[in-house]
Amino acid sequence: MVCSHRKTLGKQHTISDEEDTVVEKLDMIYEGKAKKVFKTGDENVVIVDYKDDATAFNGEKKGTIVGKGVINNKMTNFLFQKLEKAGVPTHYIEELSDRETAVKKVKIIPLEVIVRNVAAGSFSKRLGIEEGFQLLCPTLEFSYKDDALGDPLINDYFAIAIGAATREDIDTITKYAFMVNDFLKEFFGECGIDLIDFKIEFGKTDDGTIILADEISPDTCRFWDKKTHEKLDKDRFRRDLGGVEDAYQEVAKRIGLVQES
Ligand code: TMP
Repeated sequence: MVCSHRKTLGKQHTISDEEDTVVEKLDMIYEGKAKKVFKTGDENVVIVDYKDDATAFNGEKKGTIVGKGVINNKMTNFLFQKLEKAGVPTHYIEELSDRETAVKKVKIIPLEVIVRNVAAGSFSKRLGIEEGFQLLCPTLEFSYKDDALGDPLINDYFAIAIGAATREDIDTITKYAFMVNDFLKEFFGECGIDLIDFKIEFGKTDDGTIILADEISPDTCRFWDKKTHEKLDKDRFRRDLGGVEDAYQEVAKRIGLVQES
């Protein structure tokens, strides 16, 4: 689908490609902690709708980050388009509104794929290594996506043994995860932001192709100001540091998504 222009018609979104495709927002399929997913008239397309709801510690802590849904939607779409150009296939089709995006329908591979450049968070806790320690090389880890179990840390052998992914899937995911890291590290670096770590998710289309799905945003990355090391991400919410909305806005500004005020 080549999308050159779109307009919003209430709950219908017209994507003016060669066929003037209408993306109709139908029943909700799923409501997650930060997004809702809706069916469309096309079985291969769904609409994601980003909320301002924020949770931490497996949903134990709940709150709202005003305007987060808009920022996360726009930031994810902006980065996914750049990543496509860098050779990482993604689920992105077209942004429909401030909070809504048409994406390719996938079956999510139940792994949280985490890449780290600098020690922080659970890595620091588990290994007793101070937050801020520059890792000698980037790391890759997998958590099994299961809220009831608290998304436990697993390795590739576990993932294959329980049928969450095949060896081939793991190899593809590993290759893409480091490509995403190379791109994001350089991109955010040029905006005065150190990419400490991030979590991504992949999905499989009906034909078995693995593509990047979910989101890349201050909810799912650790961003530190290059000079001051100030936290510009969801850790401000997780750790009650205040200035949560301002941090999200600051990242959006730095990458050129919103005008400097
Ligand atoms: P961690 O240090 O708590 O394991 O987090 C690693 C990265 O993953 C960090 O950038 C935050 C992100 N993350 C999520 O996106 N979702 C989650 O549920 C968790 C725990 C972390």
